[in-house]
Amino acid sequence: MEGAYYKTKETAEEYIRLAKDVSGKQLIEKLKQVLPPDSVLLEIGSGPGTDWKILNDTYHTIGSDNSIAFLNHLKKENPKGKFLKLDASTLKTDKKFDGIYSNKVLHHLTDIELTESIKRQYKILNSNGIICHSF
Ligand SMILES: C[S@@+](CC[C@H](N)C(=O)[O-])C[C@H]1O[C@@H](n2cnc3c(N)ncnc32)[C@H](O)[C@@H]1O
Repeated sequence: MEGAYYKTKETAEEYIRLAKDVSGKQLIEKLKQVLPPDSVLLEIGSGPGTDWKILNDTYHTIGSDNSIAFLNHLKKENPKGKFLKLDASTLKTDKKFDGIYSNKVLHHLTDIELTESIKRQYKILNSNGIICHSF
């Protein structure tokens, strides 16, 4: 699985360095046109947390990742933030969300996993919810 690259502390730190000047700001501006402020939003694959911080300025954003290395980083950098250990393909949570967002994450899934993920996202999305993903 390609996503395995992000599982160690060293590779997570390498990605954090490489992606330090990159964010999904433009995509988030588009999301803001359709998802009202203060909505409850799930971010899948938060990684370094750059987008989580931008999203959390407008939304009640629950970050997530399936990498413990990234989750440790996210919790350390944002002690008041909410983060879940979730795999994008199964999204095992009993919470529901007004929006679901990811940036550069879902291409790590196989076609079957992606299908499962989208079905699961539909189940954990409130009615009239919005999903927003970049690949
Ligand atoms: C290219 S990084 C993108 C990180 C962040 N979204 C960004 O824009 O910088 C991919 C992220 O997806 C996470 N990831 C990969 N496969 C995953 C999966 N199956 N479930 C949850 N997260 C996954 C990785 O741990 C990593 O944080």
